[in-house]
Amino acid sequence: MEQDLKKILIDEKQIMERVQELGREISSQYPPETDLIMVCILRGAVVFLSDLARSIDRPVTFDFMEVSSYGEGTESTGVVRIIKDLGENIQGRHVLIVEDIIDTGQTLKYVVDVLKTRKPASIKTVTLLDKPERRVTKQIKVDFNGFEVPDEFVVGYGLDYAQKYRNLPYIAVLKPEAYS
Ligand code: PRP
Repeated sequence: MEQDLKKILIDEKQIMERVQELGREISSQYPPETDLIMVCILRGAVVFLSDLARSIDRPVTFDFMEVSSYGEGTESTGVVRIIKDLGENIQGRHVLIVEDIIDTGQTLKYVVDVLKTRKPASIKTVTLLDKPERRVTKQIKVDFNGFEVPDEFVVGYGLDYAQKYRNLPYIAVLKPEAYS
């Protein structure tokens, strides 16, 4: 697996420190007894969710939504589909959407637009990684962002290429020959 990696971009210690900071930032934005529902966008955000949730000092519940725009390729197709919807009613609740990476922004825009129609009390968004160079929509607001990353193919800590590398404990850049 390591032979497919060009370099480690963000190591395990940097991730852990930033996740702790994000947890503190997020906690400070909500009154102590806020009913906060963390909506994890499967599958990539599941690793981040599990660490982030444990760094938030508020009562939280989890729910999961699976959307897809990538398939097996490396480029977003721009067409977002719901594969699995939430199990819970979010009306009147404070929603925190948890993403692993925001690239073109189309997935997040779609998810926010869908969830808004269900009348939550608030929607905020947190992402571990942001690739601002790739953005095609300006209509999204990221409330909490872990790291800005350059326009390279990154894997690890939940992020995959063709479903592989999700269990790496760090974020790494994939060698182009590993996906071409
Ligand atoms: C990734 C990522 C975001 C989306 C970001 O998911 O988790 O949901 O792409 O891209 P965008 O900003 O261009 O819309 P992916 O579809 O690869 O699924 P996965 O989380 O199961 O890996």
